[in-house]
Amino acid sequence: MKQSEKIKETTDYILRRSPGFSPAMGLILGSGLGNFAESIENATVIPYGEIPNFPQSSVSGHAGNLILGNIGTTPVAVMQGRVHFYEGHSMEKVIFPARTLVALGCKTLLITNAAGGIGPDLNPGDLVLISDHLNLMGESPLKGPNEEVMGPRFPDMSDIYSRDLRKRILDIANSMNITLKEGIYAAMMGPSYETPAEVNMAKILGANMVGMSTVPEAIAAHHMGASIIGISCISNLAAGISTEPLSHDEVKETAAKIAGTFRNLIVGVVTGLR
Ligand code: HPA
Repeated sequence: MKQSEKIKETTDYILRRSPGFSPAMGLILGSGLGNFAESIENATVIPYGEIPNFPQSSVSGHAGNLILGNIGTTPVAVMQGRVHFYEGHSMEKVIFPARTLVALGCKTLLITNAAGGIGPDLNPGDLVLISDHLNLMGESPLKGPNEEVMGPRFPDMSDIYSRDLRKRILDIANSMNITLKEGIYAAMMGPSYETPAEVNMAKILGANMVGMSTVPEAIAAHHMGASIIGISCISNLAAGISTEPLSHDEVKETAAKIAGTFRNLIVGVVTGLR
């Protein structure tokens, strides 16, 4: 089956569960940030396991539900938990939910993640708006035959993290007294954290933070015409920037500490962009 046909099967199923639902924005929530789902009103919660063609996450800290509902007056489709390339899924599987959100009608996709801070001036607990990315995962999510119905063979990526939206989001954060920095996100395949030399490489290449997600979904959704908003929660200093060893527990702990501010920011962004 073509990817577009699978997506149609999936959106048909989702719309049967929530007839007439038309989300304006899609959200993909990363490590430890899934509790944001509590902010969604009139929620229809659909476990990924019930959705045809949806992949399932095996990583702790990642729940697996698609939630349809409202934030303020904005209809949203929220992925609580995601799958990663390092789990062994094909890129097609990794990007499938992002493509589904765009096919449901989302013109904007807000993608969050936990990331290691490289700097300058990035510390655990900081929230950072992604201004651009480096795809260092070693594979493109668009590899293979292109389906023109989804997007062009050679999609432009020069404004993938919309400059216009970023400006408005920085204003929203400012008006809420939330410090939001900006930075370039380097995506690595993982699952091992980087070596200090790899972090230094990413730094020389211009990255401000490193992580293992977001970029495949961003490329695939932008290929279909969506604008991307990326927000990283700096959960730890990247390897070699800190002398401490890295751990997934630290990532989850920092994400939990910042969860309240993070939730306020996302609600502010979703309602403020209307
Ligand atoms: N590196 C890669 N991915 C991450 C990190 C990191 O330091 N922190 C959270 N996700």
